[in-house]
Amino acid sequence: MATSTKIVLLLACCMTLLCSSLGAVGNGYQISSLNNTGDGGIQAILDVIANTDTFGPDIQQLQVIASYETKDRIHVRITDNINKRWEVPKDLISRQDTSASSSSDLFPKDYQHNNPSNQLQFFYTNNPFGFAITRPSSGEVLFNCTPSSAANFGPLVFKDQYLELSTDMPTYASLYGLGESTRPAGFRLISGNTYTLWTSDIPSITPNMDLYGAFPFYMDVRPSGNTHGVLFLNSNGMDVLYQDEYLTYKTIGGILDLYFFGGPSPLSVVQQYTEIVGRPAPMPYWSLGFHQSRYGYKNVSVLEDVVAKYASANIPLDVMWSDIDHMDARQDFTFDPINYPQSEVSNFVQTLHAAGQRYVLIIDPGIRVDNNYSTYTNGMKNDIFIKSSSGSSPYLAQVWPGPVYFPDFLNPNTQSYWTNEISNFQKLAQFDGLWIDMNEASNFCSGVTCTFLSDGSPCPSPDAPTTCCLNCNNSQGSKWDYPPYKINNAASQRDLGGKTIATSAVHYGGILEYDAHNLYGMSEAMVTNRALQSVLQKRPFVLSRSTFVGAGKFTAHWTGDNGATWDDLRYSIVSVLNSGLVGIPMVGADICGFLFDTTEELCNRWIQLGAFYPFARDHSDINSKPQELYLWPSVAQSARKALGLRYRLLPYLYTLVFEAHVTGAPIARALFFSFPNDAQALNINSQFLLGKGIMVSPVLVSNATTVNAYFPQGIWYSLFDYSQLVDAGNGSSQVVSAPWDTINVHVNEGSIIPMQDPASTTSLARKTPFTLVVAFSLQPYSLAAGYLFLDDGESIDMELVDGSSTFVTYNASKSTGGGSLTSNVTYGNFAFNQGLLLQNLVLFGLQAAPASVSINNAPSDSVTIQQISAHAVQISGLKIPVGNIFVVSWST
Ligand code: NOJ
Repeated sequence: MATSTKIVLLLACCMTLLCSSLGAVGNGYQISSLNNTGDGGIQAILDVIANTDTFGPDIQQLQVIASYETKDRIHVRITDNINKRWEVPKDLISRQDTSASSSSDLFPKDYQHNNPSNQLQFFYTNNPFGFAITRPSSGEVLFNCTPSSAANFGPLVFKDQYLELSTDMPTYASLYGLGESTRPAGFRLISGNTYTLWTSDIPSITPNMDLYGAFPFYMDVRPSGNTHGVLFLNSNGMDVLYQDEYLTYKTIGGILDLYFFGGPSPLSVVQQYTEIVGRPAPMPYWSLGFHQSRYGYKNVSVLEDVVAKYASANIPLDVMWSDIDHMDARQDFTFDPINYPQSEVSNFVQTLHAAGQRYVLIIDPGIRVDNNYSTYTNGMKNDIFIKSSSGSSPYLAQVWPGPVYFPDFLNPNTQSYWTNEISNFQKLAQFDGLWIDMNEASNFCSGVTCTFLSDGSPCPSPDAPTTCCLNCNNSQGSKWDYPPYKINNAASQRDLGGKTIATSAVHYGGILEYDAHNLYGMSEAMVTNRALQSVLQKRPFVLSRSTFVGAGKFTAHWTGDNGATWDDLRYSIVSVLNSGLVGIPMVGADICGFLFDTTEELCNRWIQLGAFYPFARDHSDINSKPQELYLWPSVAQSARKALGLRYRLLPYLYTLVFEAHVTGAPIARALFFSFPNDAQALNINSQFLLGKGIMVSPVLVSNATTVNAYFPQGIWYSLFDYSQLVDAGNGSSQVVSAPWDTINVHVNEGSIIPMQDPASTTSLARKTPFTLVVAFSLQPYSLAAGYLFLDDGESIDMELVDGSSTFVTYNASKSTGGGSLTSNVTYGNFAFNQGLLLQNLVLFGLQAAPASVSINNAPSDSVTIQQISAHAVQISGLKIPVGNIFVVSWST
């Protein structure tokens, strides 16, 4: 590769820009002292080239450390050389989550690559300073913030409240990430757009706006299929401008902390990225079941009624939820004495538990200011609330219960306070998981400082609970409330502190809300996860609305307040993919839509899709009509069918939860994750993969009974109807039929899918016999592979330990005369002791039905061989313990 040419080129480009950019927001920096670290990295001091005043004075001297941290990762860190600056705290993002990485070797084919040397290379220029990251094996330039003559972006800018960095971006790059927002244009980022990262309580019905989470990470798939990722580890508010030939970060604080991940596959990028931000949390087995929720379940009898109706409609139900309805005057950790008396709730939960079902309820971060409320008085005693800018008293805001203070989850003393509140509450109602809402944080008032109304009038007004009734002052804000550069939050309709905590408010140790705002939800998730772990002594389940990169280590996520519209149904796929991409794989959208009244047809299509979200919950607003799945016979029938398949797929889905935990892989993935070389797969927004080999192709429009779906290369078999086969050739669009009760779910050749029988709960389903679905190609010789992870589904750790978990790799092959399936077992004792049996094999793509079957080389007469469709043969009655090493062979 012409490395030296590239450097010369970069230098030439820089000099051009130096001349042209004087007078811009900044004039760049030059190296004044340099230390080559020997491995290709550098430590350097930069001096500002010429000062400007736009957005404040330049920081005069910077420090740069560029290091090759692994063969696949380069880290470039640029900060003030003299003064310490804000950085994302290490207790939230450790930058080194190797906890489960050895287990990723269990999935060898998908993650490892045989590159003995560094995948990425770092180049720099002296004056002005700039750098580039390349992939030496292909010569591709991946990131180039050395200003080039071709591009029209400015040089590096570093001021106290404004940092800017740009990179060239070839027009053929395919970028994904930079959320959270609702994206009508699809998963792939669109040049010409600005992506603003500022966690906000803006309903997800609002397209193209900064929503609840902030994800400063993107993945870039190049036409070669080579994929890399870039994490800008910075929690300050930012705009990311994606233009035709460049991408610019404009952030209002912190440091320039960039990680480059060399991939080269999409899966290896997320693996390398989650090593920095944290691997996704293990999820309890039951959380893969179906969840029913609603804002507006009036009392405990209504909950009981809903559970009973699910049972009589024969629709699976694992988890019932309570929204803020259960609270006494909307206060956390309380029960409404009239509608939700504690003893009734507790009895209800015991009945759920006896039926193998669970209960999750909501808490909001705002704690009502009220001397008669122990959660408040305990918080005051422990001094754990966020303070207003003066630092003397807590910051006053208003949410559902009226006037509130917000716990500071960055304060180390908050953990014991929060654990104590959760522990006391759990004793009252034995809940199984917690839903943390409104944690952007949402505030119904906007105020640099707010005080109570002096006339003592009631707050909030019962008629308009979301109208601010505090006395708020916005005129005395500081530079933290009104920074010189205004990011485009809420499409510039809000100040930085609008409808949230004032950004001049202060956390423990003097940390400014200005810096930590985007971390509020994630820090609450971390503290709540730890509290639940210690209270339940089981694997926690937390569902958080606000998230940041790395939040998947602590929480599941839902996509917030969508609407019951066909558009929202469609957008939900991209939102789910976005969350999985950034390491928050347990995610779903409110099934049937949260706001507005759903319709029978929409809800019918939505449960068909929602049954395959990683997190499947029906949830509706208090102002919408009820939408439980049994309310319409057609929806009930679709639910039985689609959820029936979901429950049969539980062993596969749970293995994906394990894979996510040890490698960071999304559970629901864009098609390009398995087919990065397929240009069409880069633009598919209406279908997705579950794991590597199952593809979901839903109906997303009204009045349709067919789907025009894209099938990447190979043969695809329907998992509902074993008779349907799609031969996609090298990849093609095909119209498949989708009658009103049908969603298309296909398995790709080469996959082995572990399945069990359907049941009304996950507790029952996990005891049923196993079936392995083996999908061969139609070629005479063909291979297939798959995995199975099992444990008790609720131990705190999800890991491979003899006796407590089992991992099996399945490999199958076929040739003209027959074929075989073998199991390679790591720690079989767990599965063996559970008495779990493999009963059936479904073999797709055999040229002829087997005439005989052997188990461990001994002919078996007790099995039944049945041609169940033109393309599938079922071998039943195997009775092989799942924990055993075995070979099943057949000859035709
Ligand atoms: C907002 C949440 O997004 C929604 O799901 C919930 O029902 C309401 N808050 C009420 O708690």
